[in-house]
Amino acid sequence: MPDDQLLQRFGREFPRGSVLFREGEPGREMFVVQQGRVTLSTTAGGVEKILASMGPGEFLGEMSILNNRPRSATATCAEDARLLVIDALTFEAMIRGNAEIAVRMVKKLADRLQEAEEQIANLLFQDASSRVVHFLVTAADKASRGPAGHEIEVAPRELAGRVGVRPEEADEALAKLVKAKIVAVRPDGFLVPDVSKLRHFLEFLQ
Ligand code: CMP
Repeated sequence: MPDDQLLQRFGREFPRGSVLFREGEPGREMFVVQQGRVTLSTTAGGVEKILASMGPGEFLGEMSILNNRPRSATATCAEDARLLVIDALTFEAMIRGNAEIAVRMVKKLADRLQEAEEQIANLLFQDASSRVVHFLVTAADKASRGPAGHEIEVAPRELAGRVGVRPEEADEALAKLVKAKIVAVRPDGFLVPDVSKLRHFLEFLQ
């Protein structure tokens, strides 16, 4: 279906702060981000953990439709957003009818599985500093390299939630890295001039 028809049929606007669905609810539709950003979070033991932040071109809410289980996370619009909202039947028909969509989805799900494994590895670190540094090492390894180093596109205000530590713990760990000039904080992310220094720092914490 051409883009403008897709938009007309499935496109919807959501103001910042809208909750698309909550963890534990049954899933009835999936979402494709066209504009804006949606945060996926889960709560375990009273602590909120941000699993991912989805931007334009990314999709969410497909899992509970595919496996018929409750929503695995809560989705909240972090910005005003325009999304395609696709009901379960249409979604299934799209996958069955378009091998390219199916392949793209399988590749994305493979990425997510790998990220989930990285998150599990991260949780094996007991202290907050090690979790923060391990998260940054993993993110830097995947980030694109600019003239000044690896550019991690994770908003600094999201760091604590992504790592599952308290904001003051994330700030404390980050302050040490900034002081040692191993990481620089930017408004929309982090800059790591030399990943090997960050890795050494992690070894030093063990
Ligand atoms: P669903 O379980 O329907 O609702 C929550 C959605 O969050 C889920 O589908 C996926 O789209 C997404 N999701 C769940 N876990 C992760 C994860 N670890 N990384 C990225 N996205 C996730």
